[in-house]
Amino acid sequence: MTKLTVNDRLMDTDAAPDTPVLWVLRDHLGMTGTKFGCGMALCGACTVHLDGAAVRSCVLPLSAVAGREITTIEGLSADRSHAVQKAWLEIDVPQCGYCQSGQIMSAAALLHRNPNPSDAEIDAAMSGNLCRCGTYARIRKAIHRAAELQGAGGAQGTGAVRGAGGSGEGVRK
Ligand code: FES
Ligand code: FES
Repeated sequence: MTKLTVNDRLMDTDAAPDTPVLWVLRDHLGMTGTKFGCGMALCGACTVHLDGAAVRSCVLPLSAVAGREITTIEGLSADRSHAVQKAWLEIDVPQCGYCQSGQIMSAAALLHRNPNPSDAEIDAAMSGNLCRCGTYARIRKAIHRAAELQGAGGAQGTGAVRGAGGSGEGVRK
């Protein structure tokens, strides 16, 4: 049994220690907001936060996250109030949407460590998140807008928000 904290909630799972966190989230804990794209750390669709940093959950073994804190798209905010979520809605970023939870998690991690990134810094931080629909220009614009929003609201909304819901609460497998 492995204990891990997901979206500020302590959970346990009997998944094998080498199970990728992506599959623990989706198949064992029922959180399907985090997407599978490549399974090889190449596309960013599976991005979550591990202790506040963006990581690719498809190549992250469960054994590496025991006792650590994971935040998924379900836990970024309880009510779409995170600056990145607000900006994404305002700019109307998504097209098909498949890559977007990963994009949002990478953007949130970027803004947490760099509250006012330049175009070059955005491009560097987001380069591992692919979008087949080509929403890159809107993503960049939305990150600048999120930086403005978080500036207006102080530090609020720049980090991984804890205590938000997400399915899987209390799941024991
Ligand atoms: S599914 Fe993890 S990086 Fe593509
Ligand atoms: S919005 Fe369709 S893959 Fe990014």
